[in-house]
Parts: sequence; C-alpha cells; structure tokens
Amino acid sequence: MRHCRAWAELAPEPSMTQLDQLYHNHIEHLQAKYAAILQHHQCDAVLIHSGAPRSRSSHDDQSWSLRVTPHFGHWLPLQAADCVLRLAPGQRPLLCWCQPGSFWEGPPAPEHRLFEKHFDIQVIRSLADLAPLLPAGKLAWVADSRDAPPDDRLQRHAELERELDELRVHKTAYEVACIAEANARAAAGHDELRRAFAAGGNIELELHLRYLLATSQDDPETPYKNIVALGEHAAVLHHVAYGRGTHHTDATSLLLDAGATCMGYHADITRTWVRGHGASKDLFLALVSGVERLQQQLCDGAVVGRPYQDLHDESHLRIGQLLRELGVVRAGPEEAVAKDVTFAFYPHGLGHSLGLQTHDVGCARIAPRADNPWLRNTRIIESGQVFTIEPGVYFIPGLLEPLRQGPHGHLVDWQRVEALAPFGGVRIEDDLHIGTRAADNLTRIVLPSGGGVA
Ligand code: GLY
Ligand code: MN
Ligand code: MN
Repeated sequence: MRHCRAWAELAPEPSMTQLDQLYHNHIEHLQAKYAAILQHHQCDAVLIHSGAPRSRSSHDDQSWSLRVTPHFGHWLPLQAADCVLRLAPGQRPLLCWCQPGSFWEGPPAPEHRLFEKHFDIQVIRSLADLAPLLPAGKLAWVADSRDAPPDDRLQRHAELERELDELRVHKTAYEVACIAEANARAAAGHDELRRAFAAGGNIELELHLRYLLATSQDDPETPYKNIVALGEHAAVLHHVAYGRGTHHTDATSLLLDAGATCMGYHADITRTWVRGHGASKDLFLALVSGVERLQQQLCDGAVVGRPYQDLHDESHLRIGQLLRELGVVRAGPEEAVAKDVTFAFYPHGLGHSLGLQTHDVGCARIAPRADNPWLRNTRIIESGQVFTIEPGVYFIPGLLEPLRQGPHGHLVDWQRVEALAPFGGVRIEDDLHIGTRAADNLTRIVLPSGGGVA
C-alpha cells in the first residue's frame, strides 16, 4: 500500500500553474467523455443545472444551503444557484452564470477561478434568460429531480444521466488531488479533537464546534454533518444530536466521523479514541486495536479486479474472528457470519464510492445481496476509483437484544457485551484511491493512526 502525496507534491501552496495543468487535463477529459456520451445518445447538447435553493419548511421563508448537482460540480467549483452549463460536442462549454443581484444574500466565492478561461461565460439574472441561449436540436436537461426544465425543448434523459454518473466513478488526477487535500483539511480537525478529548473534553457540542474551527468550515460546508459520539452514543451510527451536558465516566471513547471539502470534493474519515482506566477500557482498547489491524488488512486487500462485495464479506469474517479472540462471541467466524451474529455487531456496509458526493452513486448501480442490504459499493475494484474502507463493531441495543433472545443468543458472552456497551462502538475509516494495481491511502498520509489511546 502506498500513501498518496498527490496534493502534497503541489505544496506548500499549490502553484497556480500546477493546479492549472491538472484542471486543464480534467476539463479536456470531461469534454472528450461528454462528446462521446452525447453522440452515443444522438443528443446535440446537454444543459446541466447547478441547483435551486430548497425551502426548509413551507411555513417560513428560509432555505437550506445549496448543494450543487454533482454533474455540475464535476466541471467547476461554483456554488451558485440557477447556473446552467451548456455542453455540446466540438464547442467550448458555455457557463450561464446566474447573478440575480439580490441584496439579501450572495453565493460564496469559488475556491479557484481557473475555470473562467475554459468556459464562455454569459451572465443571466434567472433561468428565464436561458431560452435564447438554447441551441437547436435534441437537448438533454440534467438537474435535481425536483427542478423541472425551464423550457419545453429540454428533456430529461435517464440513460444519459446514468452514464454521466458512471463517469464520476473513475477520478482524474485533479479530482484525486482535491480529495487528498480534503483529507489534509479534515486531518487538522481530527488532530484537534483527539487532543481535546485526551485533555478531558467531554461535551459533544463543544467538540463539534472545535472541529469546525480547526478545519475553517461552517456547518453547512462540511461534506456531511459531523458525527461526534462520546461513549454509548457511538452505537447510533450517525449520531448528530450532540450532547450539551458533560459526559463523565472513568473510561470512555470518542468516535469522530468527520470530513472536509476541497473544490467540492469530499473527505470521509472516522477515528475512534479511548481514555480513562479500568478493565473494560482494556477490553475496548483491544477491540479498537483489532479493528485497526483488520481495517489495514482490508485496505491491503483492495486490489484491481476484486469485487468490492468480496472485500465486504472478508470484513465480516475478520470481525467474527476478532470477536472470538476477545471472547465476545463463542462461535468461529464462519458460523458467526452464517448465523447473522456478526451482522448484529456490524450492520453497515464496508464502504462506498467517494467524490463530489460522500455516497457517490456510480458504484451502487447494482443492488447488494439481501444479506448485506446497506452495502453501497457493488463494483469490481478498478483503477481510478476512490472509495472508503470503514469496518466497525457496535453495541446497538436494538440489534443485540433480538440476538440475545433468539436461537443463537448462547453464542455471545453477554457479560462482555455489557462491559463494552458504555463505549458505544468503534469505526475506523480511510479513503482509498486505486492506482494501477493496488491502493493509495489518501487518509493515512495525514492521519497515520486509526485510533487507540487518545
Ligand atoms: N460519514 C458517513 C459515512 O461514513 O458513510
Ligand atoms: Mn463513509
Ligand atoms: Mn464516515
């Protein structure tokens, strides 16, 4: 396993010429791919909408922060509503840049303006200005499903959209550099919270706010809501209802699943830390060390040509083996998997494709088998993919209680489960880029440890 230095090679401040070159190559790649897809579908142009503000409630006048359509974000880092990209084979792309001139609010500045020289730019005041900019011929409209085409000549085209989603599965060097940089930005927050937790930090809301400060992000800018879970809260896989009060026990854990963005690209990282004293702490620490070890083995197993689902199956066997070694489960790994015992401790998928969406959709076209319904990556591993590897073990009452009451309850040492339950659980998550054969770990270069004593 190599540790990728994609953006670090551009450091300390990526010079515009290097970033420019990566971005230039990225745009050339997209132009060639889009031309082939449009020609294949006999479309003369595709119009991609950046998105529209979404109302928080029909009872007031506030909107959520904009998340641009990933097809739009694939071309440029502009987070502005009601912009439209017009893309036609053999033509320079046209950016219809919506600048409504509102005195109430304005969009954030783009992270770079390199895109400006790759596009013709036409300022519009609203989508009503789009009609004269539409070319003749068959025109496809790509947008959030809630945003109807603003003109009758524009038609949705599901198959074309599916192929554009598929295009995001394989990342260009520009995209890999952005995800690597997003990892570096997130690492500052993870380091800060590990130190704060080691020093006794015990209010989840405060830890969340410290993460935002350390990564210079506002809450809506994070790729997903930070998961900041002290102790038993880690048993809620997406715990975002931060505790406001202090969390006091002799020994406890912090599960932090938090990322950052760069040019619209996401990092998705989880670390699990332990502090305090006592026998149960030692047992939980052994669990964290075991998950750390098997997570790294699974990263090593991410090789070109292997079905990701196969790696997911291996993760269940490895977790079964670990639970047996720790005396939590009395059955061997094969039996524990076959009887759904590991599923009760590890109910989610091993990982997912990552890019402009935290859960990128291109690797999830094929539904997973019924026995692992939450797996979001069912592809063969291929060069150019970026995905997460995030095994975990949790003590979730709603899953463990039926196991305890059921026919396989005797396969579990419930005293050990009760000793571990106050720690909630452990998850360790890295972002991998698949090179020509094996993986570059974009996370470990900036965060060498997956967890342990804080
Ligand atoms: N942060 C959400 C996930 O790991 O998929
Ligand atoms: Mn993830
Ligand atoms: Mn995550």
